[in-house]
Amino acid sequence: MKSILNIITEEISGAFEAKGYDRSYGKVTLSNRPDLCQYQCNGALAAAKEYKKAPIMIAEDVVSSLKDNKLFNKVEAIKPGFINIDVSNDFLADYLNDMNKDEKHGFEEVDNPKTIVIDYGGPNVAKPLHVGHLRSAVIGESLKRLARFVGHEVIGDVHLGDWGLQMGLIITELKKRQPELVYFDEEYDGEYPEEAPFTISELEEIYPAANEYSKENPEFKEEAKQTTFLLQNGHRGYTALWNHILNVSIADLKRNYDNLDVSFDLWKKESDAQKYIPDMVKYMKENNYTRISDGALVIDVKEETDTREIPPCMVLKSDGATLYNTTDLATIVEREKLFDPDRIIYVVDKRQELYFEQVFRAAKKTKIIGDDVELIFQGFGTMNGKDGKPFKTRDGGVMRLEYLIESINEEVYSKMMENRTIPEEEAREIAKIVGLAALKYGDLSNQASKDYIFDIDRFTSFEGNTGPYILYTIVRIKSILKNYEKITGSSLKNGVIRPYDIESQINLMLEASKFNETIANAYEELAPHKLCKYVYDLSNAFNTFYHENKIIAEEDKEKQESWIALIKLVLEILETSINILGFKAPERM
Ligand code: ARG
Repeated sequence: MKSILNIITEEISGAFEAKGYDRSYGKVTLSNRPDLCQYQCNGALAAAKEYKKAPIMIAEDVVSSLKDNKLFNKVEAIKPGFINIDVSNDFLADYLNDMNKDEKHGFEEVDNPKTIVIDYGGPNVAKPLHVGHLRSAVIGESLKRLARFVGHEVIGDVHLGDWGLQMGLIITELKKRQPELVYFDEEYDGEYPEEAPFTISELEEIYPAANEYSKENPEFKEEAKQTTFLLQNGHRGYTALWNHILNVSIADLKRNYDNLDVSFDLWKKESDAQKYIPDMVKYMKENNYTRISDGALVIDVKEETDTREIPPCMVLKSDGATLYNTTDLATIVEREKLFDPDRIIYVVDKRQELYFEQVFRAAKKTKIIGDDVELIFQGFGTMNGKDGKPFKTRDGGVMRLEYLIESINEEVYSKMMENRTIPEEEAREIAKIVGLAALKYGDLSNQASKDYIFDIDRFTSFEGNTGPYILYTIVRIKSILKNYEKITGSSLKNGVIRPYDIESQINLMLEASKFNETIANAYEELAPHKLCKYVYDLSNAFNTFYHENKIIAEEDKEKQESWIALIKLVLEILETSINILGFKAPERM
């Protein structure tokens, strides 16, 4: 279905044309003054120049040709030249009934689906997930669901960090602690044990310990570098250990992402791209894309139009070692080969923006990816504590994601229990669902590129622009519908929405009707916060409607049926929307 904005724009454009003006002036937008009108067109103001006429005359001219148009309840020319528009209630009701029949509530999938790779999550093996990874997972997951809803072919890739010095550090630390392990016996040529010689908690303790130790002990760091080198060149024992590290870590990561309701189509790792490096480097050298700078192999990526300094992209260090850049370039080669994508979207901390700019330019310049492929950096800001500094635990450490989730759930639980009695077990289950909504909505409702303050009290509040408020609204609608079914014995599958001239109802209908254009716009701008805003506005419109009309007590049965049909559609839209955002609603709360 066309969006309402499109339908009105068509109509107004036709009127401009009929009166001898260019149709492009007929663009309609949502009203800036909802107290005066629903929609507006400012085209007459722009047309005034071209036609050397007062804008109000053009506006009046256009309006005069729309007098009996059934689409509108009101079309007015207002000085100096605005056209204020209200759609007719009948039109709105028809529109909603059509939405009701449509599986996607009036949203039409794109005709030419694109293949899109989304690189998000980006955890590092053997390091616990911390809140910094939260944003990438939450934003990436919702972009993935949004792009899929829009109709694209989407591949979500976790792009696991498994290839740096951290591996050498862990292995070297293990060797220091347990030199007797068979992995360190250079003579050994038998099978290695299937069981890992550590648990995830041990692993998570080993990495920071090794990291600390290496700072004070240069010879240890040197050994770790050597170990990394040997590992990357296929050392048997180290490779076996590395596999253990991977397996133990991935199992733990999957458990964590499950708790976040985040899932990946691909569990590719930085190491998977390594095999593409030798040919890629050879190709880049042979085609003279590279030069040597202080012994390192680099690609110049500066452009004349740059307003800031963009340093060359380093491909190999002076000792021949590969680096983060090399891996990302090789990953582009790999993705091109495996998926032939139209777009690759990277959901990464915005502090890596310059880095990605270098990588993208190097990739385009060397033609390892076509000019038609969009490489998009979707950088996000930092999650800060109430002190405005990056979020930390009370003792100043890095907060593990698991603890953060636990504390949110606990907070929701105690808020729920303040004025209710729900059996303990059920309450804990509900708190989990609501807690996740609090966390995700708290994040997604901010423009991704901005920093935000993690305010547990506000995020878990049942009032205001929060996840729990949205869920509360959904649960309220569900309970009205259940009640209605119980009383009337009817579920009203095919109820008709009728246009009663009640302000709160018309407002609710108007909000509901914006679903398709909201989705299109949120996807276009890769902006889940726009969907959050819509969900919030729709919830508010519903709650006002609910407070002003007694749905269950309504005696006019036709009216009641119509209201039930309307709120059922609202419920479906809300549930579809929060599903795209990545969370769901409980049956009660
Ligand atoms: N592992 C990286 C980090 O923790 C993020 C990876 C982002 N994706 C990428 N293709 N570089 O910073």
